[in-house]
Amino acid sequence: MVKPDGVASGLTGEIVSRIERRGFSVVALEKRTMAREVAEEHYGEHRERPFFGELVEFITSGPVVMLAVEGPEGTIDALRRMAGSTNPLDADPGTIRGDYATDVGQNVVHSSDAVESATRELALHFGAGIAG
Ligand code: RTP
Ligand code: MG
Repeated sequence: MVKPDGVASGLTGEIVSRIERRGFSVVALEKRTMAREVAEEHYGEHRERPFFGELVEFITSGPVVMLAVEGPEGTIDALRRMAGSTNPLDADPGTIRGDYATDVGQNVVHSSDAVESATRELALHFGAGIAG
């Protein structure tokens, strides 16, 4: 997902381009503003964390671009490495966060962290048929 800061900064094309040039397939893509309930479910694992309210506020603050990306086994980890560390100040240059962000709360992209979360998030954002 390109987060609201990434969309507002005009980074959507750059991010989609990095994913495609790496050789992964974008199988679905949509720009939309996430409903609060969807955002709370998306980030449900962080519900008890002190930054949860801020996180939901931010992710619903403007349009995001939601992507379903397909690739061989290992693609989930590869996309996480392309995104870079959660705190952009720790992210390596050449990663998306390392190139385009400085704030842990506004770090340009989200990517699923495991097969289970990817399956859950794809169903949440694109409907039951897409994962698999
Ligand atoms: P994401 O889920 O957005 O792809 O990010 P991530 O896996 O790298 O990091 P995660 O631990 O899942 O945290 C989700 C988002 O919460 C915000 N965060 N803020 N203030 C803080 O200490 C803090 N820690 C995390 C970040 O925006 C992070 O992307
Ligand atoms: Mg995460």
